Amino acid sequence: MKRIGVITSGGDCGGLNAVIKGVARYAYSLGIESVVIPNGYAGLYNLIDLDKVVSLDAERVSKIEASLAGSEAGHSRVKLSKIKDPNTYERIKEGLKKFGIDALIISGGDDTGSVVVDLASHGVPCIHVPKTMDLDLQPYSVGGDSAVNRIATFTRDLKTTGLSHNRVLVIEVFGRYVGHTAFRGGVGAEADCILIPEIPVDFDVVYEHMKTTYFGRVMRSDVKAGTYIIVVAEGLKNASGEMLYDESAGVDAFGHKKLAGAGKYVRQQLEKRLKNDPEVVEFMKKTGMYAPGVYEIPEVREVIPGHLVRCGGSSAYDVNFGYKAGAAAVVLLLEGKIANTVVNVDDNRIHYMPTSEAIKRREVDIKEVALFESLGICFGRKPQKFEYEFSEANGGIVRHL
Ligand code: F6P
Repeated sequence: MKRIGVITSGGDCGGLNAVIKGVARYAYSLGIESVVIPNGYAGLYNLIDLDKVVSLDAERVSKIEASLAGSEAGHSRVKLSKIKDPNTYERIKEGLKKFGIDALIISGGDDTGSVVVDLASHGVPCIHVPKTMDLDLQPYSVGGDSAVNRIATFTRDLKTTGLSHNRVLVIEVFGRYVGHTAFRGGVGAEADCILIPEIPVDFDVVYEHMKTTYFGRVMRSDVKAGTYIIVVAEGLKNASGEMLYDESAGVDAFGHKKLAGAGKYVRQQLEKRLKNDPEVVEFMKKTGMYAPGVYEIPEVREVIPGHLVRCGGSSAYDVNFGYKAGAAAVVLLLEGKIANTVVNVDDNRIHYMPTSEAIKRREVDIKEVALFESLGICFGRKPQKFEYEFSEANGGIVRHL
Protein backbone atom coordinates (compact mmCIF):
# COMPACT_ATOMS: atom_id res chain seq x y z
CA MET A 1 0.00 0.00 0.00
CA LYS A 2 1.56 3.25 -1.14
CA ARG A 3 -1.26 5.73 -1.66
CA ILE A 4 -4.63 6.08 0.06
CA GLY A 5 -7.41 8.30 -1.28
CA VAL A 6 -9.54 10.15 1.27
CA ILE A 7 -13.18 10.95 0.52
CA THR A 8 -15.80 12.74 2.61
CA SER A 9 -19.36 12.38 1.37
CA GLY A 10 -22.95 13.35 2.20
CA GLY A 11 -23.68 16.36 4.42
CA ASP A 12 -20.83 18.28 6.00
CA CYS A 13 -20.55 18.34 9.80
CA GLY A 14 -18.11 18.59 12.70
CA GLY A 15 -15.06 16.37 13.13
CA LEU A 16 -14.39 15.57 9.47
CA ASN A 17 -11.17 17.52 9.29
CA ALA A 18 -9.94 15.51 12.26
CA VAL A 19 -10.76 12.32 10.34
CA ILE A 20 -8.73 13.59 7.37
CA LYS A 21 -5.81 14.53 9.64
CA GLY A 22 -6.05 11.23 11.49
CA VAL A 23 -5.80 9.30 8.22
CA ALA A 24 -3.03 11.48 6.79
CA ARG A 25 -0.80 11.60 9.87
CA TYR A 26 -1.14 7.93 10.74
CA ALA A 27 -0.50 6.88 7.15
CA TYR A 28 2.46 9.26 6.97
CA SER A 29 3.95 7.72 10.13
CA LEU A 30 3.97 4.40 8.26
CA GLY A 31 5.48 5.87 5.11
CA ILE A 32 2.20 5.81 3.19
CA GLU A 33 0.97 8.83 1.27
CA SER A 34 -2.64 9.97 1.40
CA VAL A 35 -4.34 12.21 -1.13
CA VAL A 36 -7.61 14.12 -1.32
CA ILE A 37 -10.28 12.97 -3.75
CA PRO A 38 -12.31 16.18 -3.79
CA ASN A 39 -16.07 16.64 -3.51
CA GLY A 40 -17.23 13.21 -2.50
CA TYR A 41 -18.31 10.60 -5.02
CA ALA A 42 -18.64 13.24 -7.75
CA GLY A 43 -14.88 13.71 -7.44
CA LEU A 44 -14.28 9.97 -7.46
CA TYR A 45 -16.29 9.61 -10.64
CA ASN A 46 -14.38 12.46 -12.27
CA LEU A 47 -10.96 11.56 -10.86
CA ILE A 48 -9.86 10.34 -14.27
CA ASP A 49 -10.19 13.89 -15.63
CA LEU A 50 -8.11 15.58 -12.92
CA ASP A 51 -4.60 16.77 -13.69
CA LYS A 52 -3.34 16.20 -10.18
CA VAL A 53 -4.49 15.26 -6.71
CA VAL A 54 -3.56 17.09 -3.52
CA SER A 55 -1.11 15.17 -1.39
CA LEU A 56 -1.74 15.32 2.35
CA ASP A 57 1.90 15.74 3.24
CA ALA A 58 3.03 17.19 6.56
CA GLU A 59 2.88 20.77 5.34
CA ARG A 60 -0.57 20.51 3.71
CA VAL A 61 -2.01 18.70 6.70
CA SER A 62 -0.76 21.34 9.10
CA LYS A 63 -2.96 23.84 7.25
CA ILE A 64 -6.09 21.88 8.09
CA GLU A 65 -7.82 23.02 11.27
CA ALA A 66 -9.24 19.95 12.99
CA SER A 67 -11.46 22.03 15.25
CA LEU A 68 -13.27 23.58 12.29
CA ALA A 69 -16.37 21.81 11.01
CA GLY A 70 -16.88 21.01 7.33
CA SER A 71 -14.38 19.10 5.27
CA GLU A 72 -11.21 20.20 3.55
CA ALA A 73 -11.89 17.37 1.09
CA GLY A 74 -15.30 18.80 0.09
CA HIS A 75 -18.63 17.02 -0.28
CA SER A 76 -21.35 16.13 -2.73
CA ARG A 77 -24.63 14.29 -2.39
CA VAL A 78 -23.81 12.16 -5.44
CA LYS A 79 -24.61 8.47 -5.07
CA LEU A 80 -22.72 6.35 -7.59
CA SER A 81 -25.68 4.07 -8.31
CA LYS A 82 -27.69 7.10 -9.48
CA ILE A 83 -25.13 8.17 -12.10
CA LYS A 84 -26.44 7.40 -15.57
CA ASP A 85 -23.32 5.72 -16.84
CA PRO A 86 -23.05 1.93 -17.20
CA ASN A 87 -19.26 2.21 -16.93
CA THR A 88 -19.16 4.10 -13.63
CA TYR A 89 -17.02 1.56 -11.79
CA GLU A 90 -14.62 1.06 -14.69
CA ARG A 91 -14.18 4.82 -14.94
CA ILE A 92 -13.50 5.02 -11.20
CA LYS A 93 -10.94 2.23 -11.36
CA GLU A 94 -9.15 3.97 -14.24
CA GLY A 95 -9.05 7.18 -12.21
CA LEU A 96 -7.57 5.36 -9.22
CA LYS A 97 -5.01 3.66 -11.49
CA LYS A 98 -4.05 6.97 -13.09
CA PHE A 99 -3.01 8.37 -9.71
CA GLY A 100 -1.68 5.13 -8.24
CA ILE A 101 -4.31 5.12 -5.49
CA ASP A 102 -4.43 1.65 -3.95
CA ALA A 103 -7.36 2.03 -1.58
CA LEU A 104 -9.92 4.45 -0.18
CA ILE A 105 -10.97 5.70 3.23
CA ILE A 106 -14.45 7.12 2.96
CA SER A 107 -16.27 9.06 5.65
CA GLY A 108 -20.03 9.45 5.42
CA GLY A 109 -23.45 8.26 6.48
CA ASP A 110 -25.77 5.49 5.33
CA ASP A 111 -25.85 6.38 1.62
CA THR A 112 -22.09 6.81 1.61
CA GLY A 113 -21.64 3.51 3.44
CA SER A 114 -23.78 1.61 0.95
CA VAL A 115 -21.44 2.84 -1.79
CA VAL A 116 -18.44 1.63 0.27
CA VAL A 117 -20.01 -1.84 0.12
CA ASP A 118 -20.61 -1.50 -3.64
CA LEU A 119 -17.09 -0.27 -4.32
CA ALA A 120 -15.57 -3.13 -2.32
CA SER A 121 -17.68 -5.64 -4.24
CA HIS A 122 -16.27 -4.12 -7.45
CA GLY A 123 -12.75 -4.76 -6.20
CA VAL A 124 -11.93 -1.32 -4.79
CA PRO A 125 -10.50 -1.78 -1.27
CA CYS A 126 -12.15 0.69 1.08
CA ILE A 127 -12.88 1.39 4.74
CA HIS A 128 -15.74 3.45 6.11
CA VAL A 129 -15.50 6.07 8.86
CA PRO A 130 -18.98 6.78 10.27
CA LYS A 131 -20.10 10.38 9.82
CA THR A 132 -23.49 12.01 10.15
CA MET A 133 -24.84 14.69 12.42
CA ASP A 134 -28.11 12.74 12.41
CA LEU A 135 -26.54 9.94 14.53
CA ASP A 136 -28.67 7.37 12.74
CA LEU A 137 -25.95 4.77 12.13
CA GLN A 138 -25.34 1.83 14.46
CA PRO A 139 -22.02 3.14 15.86
CA TYR A 140 -21.36 6.71 16.96
CA SER A 141 -20.79 8.93 13.93
CA VAL A 142 -18.46 11.90 13.88
CA GLY A 143 -20.39 15.20 13.71
CA GLY A 144 -23.17 14.13 16.07
CA ASP A 145 -21.67 15.57 19.23
CA SER A 146 -20.88 18.91 17.55
CA ALA A 147 -24.43 19.21 16.19
CA VAL A 148 -25.98 18.32 19.53
CA ASN A 149 -23.88 20.95 21.27
CA ARG A 150 -24.77 23.61 18.73
CA ILE A 151 -28.47 22.80 18.95
CA ALA A 152 -28.26 23.01 22.73
CA THR A 153 -26.42 26.35 22.57
CA PHE A 154 -28.80 27.96 20.06
CA THR A 155 -31.83 26.71 21.94
CA ARG A 156 -30.54 27.96 25.26
CA ASP A 157 -29.64 31.34 23.71
CA LEU A 158 -33.13 31.69 22.25
CA LYS A 159 -34.58 31.57 25.75
CA THR A 160 -33.59 35.20 26.35
CA THR A 161 -35.67 36.39 23.41
CA GLY A 162 -38.48 34.02 24.39
CA LEU A 163 -38.46 35.41 27.92
CA SER A 164 -38.33 39.04 26.81
CA HIS A 165 -41.42 38.64 24.59
CA ASN A 166 -43.18 35.92 26.57
CA ARG A 167 -43.12 33.84 23.40
CA VAL A 168 -43.52 30.14 22.88
CA LEU A 169 -40.59 29.18 20.66
CA VAL A 170 -40.49 26.22 18.31
CA ILE A 171 -36.99 25.38 17.13
CA GLU A 172 -36.90 23.11 14.09
CA VAL A 173 -33.68 21.20 13.58
CA PHE A 174 -32.34 18.73 11.00
CA GLY A 175 -33.27 15.11 11.44
CA ARG A 176 -35.05 13.71 8.43
CA TYR A 177 -35.78 10.21 9.69
CA VAL A 178 -34.69 10.15 13.33
CA GLY A 179 -34.70 12.57 16.25
CA HIS A 180 -31.38 11.90 18.01
CA THR A 181 -30.05 15.45 17.70
CA ALA A 182 -33.38 17.12 18.53
CA PHE A 183 -33.61 14.81 21.55
CA ARG A 184 -30.07 15.24 22.89
CA GLY A 185 -29.77 18.91 21.94
CA GLY A 186 -33.17 19.63 23.45
CA VAL A 187 -32.28 17.90 26.70
CA GLY A 188 -28.95 19.75 26.70
CA ALA A 189 -30.79 23.08 26.55
CA GLU A 190 -33.47 22.04 29.07
CA ALA A 191 -36.18 22.40 26.45
CA ASP A 192 -39.71 21.90 27.76
CA CYS A 193 -40.88 19.76 24.88
CA ILE A 194 -39.05 17.64 22.29
CA LEU A 195 -40.82 16.24 19.25
CA ILE A 196 -39.16 13.51 17.20
CA PRO A 197 -40.19 11.36 14.21
CA GLU A 198 -40.15 8.21 16.36
CA ILE A 199 -43.11 9.40 18.48
CA PRO A 200 -46.38 10.34 16.77
CA VAL A 201 -47.45 13.66 18.27
CA ASP A 202 -50.69 14.23 20.15
CA PHE A 203 -50.98 18.02 20.04
CA ASP A 204 -53.58 18.09 22.81
CA VAL A 205 -50.92 16.64 25.12
CA VAL A 206 -48.37 19.22 23.94
CA TYR A 207 -50.89 22.02 24.41
CA GLU A 208 -51.78 21.00 27.96
CA HIS A 209 -48.10 20.69 28.90
CA MET A 210 -47.39 24.07 27.36
CA LYS A 211 -50.33 25.69 29.14
CA THR A 212 -49.42 24.36 32.56
CA THR A 213 -45.71 25.12 32.21
CA TYR A 214 -45.82 28.45 30.42
CA PHE A 215 -48.89 29.95 32.12
CA GLY A 216 -47.45 28.92 35.50
CA ARG A 217 -44.10 30.54 34.72
CA VAL A 218 -45.59 33.87 33.67
CA MET A 219 -47.98 33.93 36.63
CA ARG A 220 -45.25 33.15 39.15
CA SER A 221 -42.75 35.63 37.70
CA ASP A 222 -42.47 38.97 39.57
CA VAL A 223 -42.05 40.72 36.20
CA LYS A 224 -44.60 38.50 34.46
CA ALA A 225 -42.05 36.88 32.13
CA GLY A 226 -42.04 33.34 30.83
CA THR A 227 -41.27 31.26 27.77
CA TYR A 228 -41.83 27.69 26.61
CA ILE A 229 -39.30 25.98 24.40
CA ILE A 230 -40.05 23.21 21.92
CA VAL A 231 -37.33 21.50 19.86
CA VAL A 232 -38.74 19.62 16.89
CA ALA A 233 -37.00 17.39 14.35
CA GLU A 234 -37.79 18.26 10.72
CA GLY A 235 -38.99 14.71 10.04
CA LEU A 236 -41.95 14.99 12.40
CA LYS A 237 -45.16 13.19 11.51
CA ASN A 238 -48.59 13.70 13.01
CA ALA A 239 -50.42 11.21 15.24
CA SER A 240 -51.51 9.18 12.20
CA GLY A 241 -47.95 8.99 10.91
CA GLU A 242 -48.81 11.36 8.03
CA MET A 243 -46.81 14.11 6.41
CA LEU A 244 -47.33 17.62 7.76
CA TYR A 245 -49.60 19.99 5.84
CA ASP A 246 -49.76 23.76 5.92
CA GLU A 247 -53.32 24.33 7.09
CA SER A 248 -53.31 28.01 6.12
CA ALA A 249 -52.16 27.45 2.53
CA GLY A 250 -55.17 25.62 1.06
CA VAL A 251 -54.60 23.24 -1.85
CA ASP A 252 -52.64 23.50 -5.08
CA ALA A 253 -54.03 23.24 -8.63
CA PHE A 254 -54.11 19.46 -8.35
CA GLY A 255 -55.97 19.54 -5.04
CA HIS A 256 -52.92 18.50 -3.03
CA LYS A 257 -52.41 20.11 0.38
CA LYS A 258 -49.22 22.10 0.69
CA LEU A 259 -46.59 20.57 2.91
CA ALA A 260 -45.53 22.57 5.97
CA GLY A 261 -42.22 22.50 7.79
CA ALA A 262 -42.35 20.76 11.14
CA GLY A 263 -41.83 24.03 13.07
CA LYS A 264 -44.58 25.80 11.20
CA TYR A 265 -46.95 22.90 11.69
CA VAL A 266 -46.31 22.79 15.43
CA ARG A 267 -46.92 26.55 15.64
CA GLN A 268 -50.21 26.25 13.75
CA GLN A 269 -51.39 23.45 16.02
CA LEU A 270 -50.67 25.49 19.15
CA GLU A 271 -52.13 28.73 17.75
CA LYS A 272 -55.35 26.95 16.82
CA ARG A 273 -55.76 25.71 20.38
CA LEU A 274 -54.78 29.04 21.96
CA LYS A 275 -57.44 30.83 19.88
CA ASN A 276 -60.16 28.40 20.86
CA ASP A 277 -59.37 28.25 24.57
CA PRO A 278 -61.43 30.71 26.69
CA GLU A 279 -58.95 30.44 29.56
CA VAL A 280 -56.28 32.10 27.42
CA VAL A 281 -57.87 35.58 27.40
CA GLU A 282 -58.36 35.27 31.15
CA PHE A 283 -54.64 34.42 31.52
CA MET A 284 -53.65 37.36 29.29
CA LYS A 285 -55.75 39.74 31.38
CA LYS A 286 -54.51 38.38 34.71
CA THR A 287 -50.88 38.83 33.65
CA GLY A 288 -51.41 42.32 32.22
CA MET A 289 -50.56 41.30 28.66
CA TYR A 290 -53.99 41.64 27.09
CA ALA A 291 -54.37 44.35 24.42
CA PRO A 292 -57.76 44.05 22.62
CA GLY A 293 -57.45 43.49 18.89
CA VAL A 294 -53.64 43.52 19.08
CA TYR A 295 -52.38 41.00 21.58
CA GLU A 296 -55.01 38.54 22.68
CA ILE A 297 -53.09 35.27 22.71
CA PRO A 298 -49.41 34.56 23.45
CA GLU A 299 -47.18 34.54 20.39
CA VAL A 300 -45.84 31.27 19.07
CA ARG A 301 -42.82 31.62 16.77
CA GLU A 302 -40.75 29.09 14.90
CA VAL A 303 -36.99 29.41 14.41
CA ILE A 304 -35.10 27.26 11.90
CA PRO A 305 -31.33 27.30 12.45
CA GLY A 306 -30.85 25.00 9.41
CA HIS A 307 -27.22 24.48 8.48
CA LEU A 308 -26.06 26.51 11.48
CA VAL A 309 -26.35 23.32 13.52
CA ARG A 310 -23.67 21.54 11.53
CA CYS A 311 -21.23 24.31 10.55
CA GLY A 312 -18.66 26.41 12.40
CA GLY A 313 -16.68 24.53 14.99
CA SER A 314 -16.24 20.88 15.92
CA SER A 315 -16.68 19.77 19.51
CA ALA A 316 -13.59 18.49 21.31
CA TYR A 317 -15.22 15.05 21.41
CA ASP A 318 -15.58 15.00 17.62
CA VAL A 319 -11.96 16.05 17.13
CA ASN A 320 -10.87 13.22 19.42
CA PHE A 321 -13.14 10.68 17.76
CA GLY A 322 -12.21 11.91 14.27
CA TYR A 323 -8.48 11.53 14.89
CA LYS A 324 -8.89 8.06 16.34
CA ALA A 325 -11.32 6.87 13.66
CA GLY A 326 -9.13 8.20 10.83
CA ALA A 327 -6.03 6.48 12.18
CA ALA A 328 -7.93 3.25 12.88
CA ALA A 329 -9.24 3.24 9.30
CA VAL A 330 -5.65 3.14 8.04
CA VAL A 331 -4.93 0.14 10.28
CA LEU A 332 -8.05 -1.70 9.10
CA LEU A 333 -7.08 -1.05 5.50
CA LEU A 334 -3.56 -2.37 6.01
CA GLU A 335 -4.92 -5.44 7.77
CA GLY A 336 -7.20 -6.11 4.79
CA LYS A 337 -10.43 -5.65 6.73
CA ILE A 338 -12.17 -4.25 3.67
CA ALA A 339 -15.78 -2.99 3.68
CA ASN A 340 -15.73 -2.48 7.43
CA THR A 341 -16.67 0.55 9.48
CA VAL A 342 -14.60 1.91 12.34
CA VAL A 343 -16.69 1.80 15.52
CA ASN A 344 -14.25 3.19 18.07
CA VAL A 345 -10.76 2.94 19.47
CA ASP A 346 -10.73 2.29 23.14
CA ASP A 347 -7.50 1.58 24.93
CA ASN A 348 -5.49 -0.23 22.21
CA ARG A 349 -8.55 -2.01 20.81
CA ILE A 350 -9.89 -1.02 17.43
CA HIS A 351 -13.56 -1.87 17.25
CA TYR A 352 -15.10 -2.29 13.84
CA MET A 353 -18.09 -3.90 12.15
CA PRO A 354 -19.22 -4.71 8.59
CA THR A 355 -20.30 -1.53 6.85
CA SER A 356 -23.47 -3.27 5.65
CA GLU A 357 -24.46 -3.63 9.34
CA ALA A 358 -23.16 -0.25 10.49
CA ILE A 359 -25.42 1.67 8.09
CA LYS A 360 -28.65 0.11 9.34
CA ARG A 361 -30.83 2.94 10.66
CA ARG A 362 -30.75 3.48 14.41
CA GLU A 363 -33.75 5.24 15.85
CA VAL A 364 -34.11 6.96 19.21
CA ASP A 365 -34.63 4.40 21.95
CA ILE A 366 -38.17 5.13 23.03
CA LYS A 367 -37.71 3.27 26.32
CA GLU A 368 -35.06 5.79 27.33
CA VAL A 369 -37.36 8.67 26.41
CA ALA A 370 -39.62 7.54 29.29
CA LEU A 371 -36.83 8.41 31.74
CA PHE A 372 -36.83 12.01 30.51
CA GLU A 373 -40.62 12.10 30.62
CA SER A 374 -40.35 11.23 34.31
CA LEU A 375 -38.19 14.36 34.63
CA GLY A 376 -40.98 16.53 33.22
CA ILE A 377 -40.07 16.90 29.54
CA CYS A 378 -42.98 16.49 27.11
CA PHE A 379 -42.44 14.26 24.07
CA GLY A 380 -45.87 14.76 22.54
CA ARG A 381 -47.52 11.77 24.17
CA LYS A 382 -48.86 10.93 27.60
CA PRO A 383 -45.76 10.33 29.78
CA GLN A 384 -44.82 6.67 30.06
CA LYS A 385 -43.33 4.96 33.08
CA PHE A 386 -39.58 4.33 32.85
CA GLU A 387 -39.27 0.55 32.88
CA TYR A 388 -35.65 -0.09 33.81
CA GLU A 389 -33.57 -3.23 33.67
CA PHE A 390 -30.10 -3.93 35.06
CA SER A 391 -27.10 -5.00 33.08
CA GLU A 392 -23.60 -5.28 34.44
CA ALA A 393 -21.14 -3.69 32.01
CA ASN A 394 -18.42 -6.29 31.48
CA GLY A 395 -16.18 -4.36 29.15
CA GLY A 396 -19.06 -3.86 26.70
CA ILE A 397 -19.04 -0.65 24.68
CA VAL A 398 -21.57 1.96 25.66
CA ARG A 399 -22.07 4.56 22.92
CA HIS A 400 -21.66 8.09 24.30
CA LEU A 401 -24.57 9.41 22.22
O1 F6P B 1 -26.85 14.80 6.53
C1 F6P B 1 -28.15 14.66 7.01
C2 F6P B 1 -28.83 15.99 7.16
O2 F6P B 1 -28.28 16.70 8.23
C3 F6P B 1 -30.33 15.84 7.31
O3 F6P B 1 -30.78 15.76 8.61
C4 F6P B 1 -30.85 17.05 6.59
O4 F6P B 1 -32.16 16.85 6.14
C5 F6P B 1 -29.89 17.17 5.48
O5 F6P B 1 -28.66 16.78 6.00
C6 F6P B 1 -29.79 18.52 4.85
O6 F6P B 1 -28.69 18.51 4.00
P1 F6P B 1 -28.47 19.36 2.70
O7 F6P B 1 -27.57 20.44 3.11
O8 F6P B 1 -27.82 18.46 1.72
O9 F6P B 1 -29.81 19.85 2.27
